[in-house]
Amino acid sequence: MKHISRREMITRMIKTGTILGTTKVIGAPALGRAGSASESIRVGVIGIGNKGWQHIETFGRLPGVDVVAISDIDPARLAEGRKKAEGLSYRPDGYIDGRHILDRADIDAVVIATPNHWHGLQTIWACQAGKHVYVEKPVTHNLWEGARMLEAEQQYGVLIQAGTQNRSNPGLADALEYLKTRPLGAIQWIHGLFWKFRGSIGYVTSPQTPPPGADYNLFCGPAPLTPLMRKTFHYDWHWQWATGNGDMGNLGAHTTDDVRRVLGDSVYPKRIMSYGGRFVHRDNGETPNAHLAVFDYAGIPVFIEMRSLPTGVGTERMDHVRGIRNGTIVQCEDGWVNVGRGGGVFYDSSGKKVKSFAGDAGAGHVENFIAALRANDRSLLNAPLQAGVAAGELFHLANVSYRAGDSLRGHDGRALREQRLGAFPQSEAPFDHMIAMLKRNEVDLETSSVCFGPWLSYSPTPSEVRSESEPHQAMVESLLTPTYREPFTIPAKL
Ligand SMILES: NC(=O)c1ccc[n+]([C@@H]2O[C@H](COP(=O)([O-])OP(=O)(O)OC[C@H]3O[C@@H](n4cnc5c(N)ncnc54)[C@H](O)[C@@H]3O)[C@@H](O)[C@H]2O)c1
Repeated sequence: MKHISRREMITRMIKTGTILGTTKVIGAPALGRAGSASESIRVGVIGIGNKGWQHIETFGRLPGVDVVAISDIDPARLAEGRKKAEGLSYRPDGYIDGRHILDRADIDAVVIATPNHWHGLQTIWACQAGKHVYVEKPVTHNLWEGARMLEAEQQYGVLIQAGTQNRSNPGLADALEYLKTRPLGAIQWIHGLFWKFRGSIGYVTSPQTPPPGADYNLFCGPAPLTPLMRKTFHYDWHWQWATGNGDMGNLGAHTTDDVRRVLGDSVYPKRIMSYGGRFVHRDNGETPNAHLAVFDYAGIPVFIEMRSLPTGVGTERMDHVRGIRNGTIVQCEDGWVNVGRGGGVFYDSSGKKVKSFAGDAGAGHVENFIAALRANDRSLLNAPLQAGVAAGELFHLANVSYRAGDSLRGHDGRALREQRLGAFPQSEAPFDHMIAMLKRNEVDLETSSVCFGPWLSYSPTPSEVRSESEPHQAMVESLLTPTYREPFTIPAKL
């Protein structure tokens, strides 16, 4: 990142009007990496959308923490954020360009709550500027950048917490510990679900105008500076690949993390494939709205399934499996367990609840980050960057398989399921469930395409991905090779 001198920075901010509050001393001496118990930790929040807005409050309310600066490329959101902070009795400085936060010597840590395509680069910039980082999930936008982020964390000696708050959920942690004792026998298969209704994002055929004053170049950042082709500027970037990862990498970032914790952080799937499609809506969304990924964990099949289509036409109600719409079913020999933000509930084979651990959805995650900073001890972080990167590996591979897949019309894919998933008889029930849901949504499987991805074989260190079907390999490789738009690039070696 280009470093700007303090004088140049202030001149620029005055010229561009990007500084909205001047009550704080710019360039005050840094607190020092850890901060002592008596000193306040000074934080900047970058990206004031749904989540950044919450962070202004969560960080702002913590004793010994001052949110001294916020940034958003949309001046309206920046102003709303400052108003909210004022309601909490503090006055952070506001910047359109978050790089000004990184250039301030008096800031100890940054919270990154921008769209996914920005997380990698902003994290690396923050490391280079000597800031600790709380980076929202998904911590990566693609499979490649995680290793660069980990390298930056080590090289610059900072602490990075991933925004997968379930890692700070005591009830879930207790349930997972108990599950390790195998109270219901061996694990047979796992089905993670995040089924949440989402409607059409609308369909525009000509470029849209960003909100007044918003810096669209900075919004796109590392992504191509293409015309804005969606009705709603904020949030719906999730459903376009250049900026988002679909729900597989959105809500699925929590589920893949939970699954990794069930099976053990050091265990990786050997093979991955996925299928699904974007059905019903004719809109500008690109990512699937029904998507099931299969992970082959040496004998234990893991199904991770996102769905945003309802149970049928004319309702927003969602289907469920065993009463679960958002959670992970761990099927064991003598019963099953549901784990997730609510903690863990254990059932025997007759469906009787035999034990439960109440979760708190990870309410103490931000406190955990601050405590680790104060102790200057990375080992205290409940969700170290590595965990976020590894959870990302799963959903990125699911998305790569889907995007490299074959779009099939004219049949419901039953023959292909048999061909590609025949080795996993447990895959038949979720497949049939999805097809039945599509039919209830009046999806004509004769004319709508279902995308069936190839199996990818995977080994994590060094990261190696290969399509088991040679014709798909070129596409897989191109999806694994991200491009970053100058000057928003991440070097291959830091
Ligand atoms: N941990 C969780 O459970 C959780 C929950 C919600 C969101 N999130 C994550 O938080 C992130 C933000 O989600 P959201 O729902 O708030 O989205 P959003 O679209 O509402 O907000 C993103 C904000 O970032 C701003 N922005 C874009 N580029 C920027 C830049 N370069 N510098 C400064 N600001 C920039 C946008 O203008 C927007 O206001 C996502 O990655 C999402 O996955 C995590």
